[in-house]
Amino acid sequence: MTNAALLAVRNLAKTYQSRGGRVTGVADVSFDLHRGETLGLVGPSGSGKSTLARVLMRLTEPDSGTVHLDGEDWLALSAGALRARRGTIQMVFQDPLAAFNPRATIGGALADPLRIHAVVPRTERPRRIGELLERVGLPAALAKRRIHEVSGGQRQRVAIARALATNPRLIVLDEAVSALDVSVRGKILMLLAELQAREGLAYIFVGHDLAVVRVISHRVAVMDKGRIVETGPVTDVVADPQSETGKALVAATPRLF
Ligand SMILES: Nc1ncnc2c1ncn2[C@@H]1O[C@H](COP(=O)(O)OP(=O)(O)O)[C@@H](O)[C@H]1O
Ligand SMILES: [Mg+2]
Repeated sequence: MTNAALLAVRNLAKTYQSRGGRVTGVADVSFDLHRGETLGLVGPSGSGKSTLARVLMRLTEPDSGTVHLDGEDWLALSAGALRARRGTIQMVFQDPLAAFNPRATIGGALADPLRIHAVVPRTERPRRIGELLERVGLPAALAKRRIHEVSGGQRQRVAIARALATNPRLIVLDEAVSALDVSVRGKILMLLAELQAREGLAYIFVGHDLAVVRVISHRVAVMDKGRIVETGPVTDVVADPQSETGKALVAATPRLF
């Protein structure tokens, strides 16, 4: 394992049992991710991107393989140690409405991680909630509003603010901008890039659209049938894909030319 890597993933495998037999989620996935870096994860539907994201979040236990975070064996952490460290990796999903309690206020949604992870004392929570909203380009007054009252783009900013609440080193964004209009999407991508430049965050940016993934990624990994079939600097993969899956993704993305 290299000392420099924030995240070192080795030989990760996960299968699911279904009625038809065993289904491959991910098979023998290995990669490093460095501090402040964005790895784009692209591939067709069913290629294992979300499974990989869920294993990294420890929402799903893999069958085999290792994950080291900052040199620490992330999959070996006990329940107690995991609880204390869970905020180190955060996730943003495609549909923020599904990820929030629809009746909660935005301030309430942001108070949850602050309380659960004991980030700040209770009396400091309102101030911290205002800061979090401002960090993602929203007015602090939005804390009083309900999540279903604001636009899709604002909701996704709140989801990013919630992810930031625990001071993560890595945010996994699983199709996080896929449901947004093009102009809103561009602004969210810009926000993510600004946060990364300012705070040195690392991202795993999952998407099926190479034209979007390449805007924010330094490197990309192309997945197919649970495996990484190609990985490299984003400009190389876009200009000269080596794998059949990479070639098909580039060919299916006319905006790249
Ligand atoms: N909970 C599950 N039970 C059974 N099979 C699953 C489950 N989650 C994912 N799969 C299967 O694992 C494979 C990878 O899925 P997924 O990781 O969601 O891919 P992606 O995010 O790239 O679309 C697919 O064949 C999918 O049907
Ligand atoms: Mg998915």
